[in-house]
Amino acid sequence: MSGPPWVATVDDAKVPEGVPVAVYPKGLPVLVIRRDGELFAVANKCAHMGCPLEAGALDGYTLTCPCHDWRFDIRDGEFLDAPELSLATFAVKVDDGKVLVRLEEA
Ligand code: FES
Repeated sequence: MSGPPWVATVDDAKVPEGVPVAVYPKGLPVLVIRRDGELFAVANKCAHMGCPLEAGALDGYTLTCPCHDWRFDIRDGEFLDAPELSLATFAVKVDDGKVLVRLEEA
């Protein structure tokens, strides 16, 4: 078994610090975020009503949904007001200048 696939998305150089970038590995909406030099990948679909999160505000590791202000921790996807809800998160790495996302929930 080779495990879940790593899918190449955006160029690493195109992910600026602190600005979420929407990518679509195999059509799945994912948000790649660089924070303090480290990369994170979360579902680009709010756990509330599915709004895209790419226009959300990022403050530290907290991403706020632009629709109704639900707040998520980009490190583990946790919804800060109710830990039983969360965003899917994905393993992410850089290979040969590309950001790769692993399409299994981390
Ligand atoms: S859809 Fe994100 S807070 Fe409502």
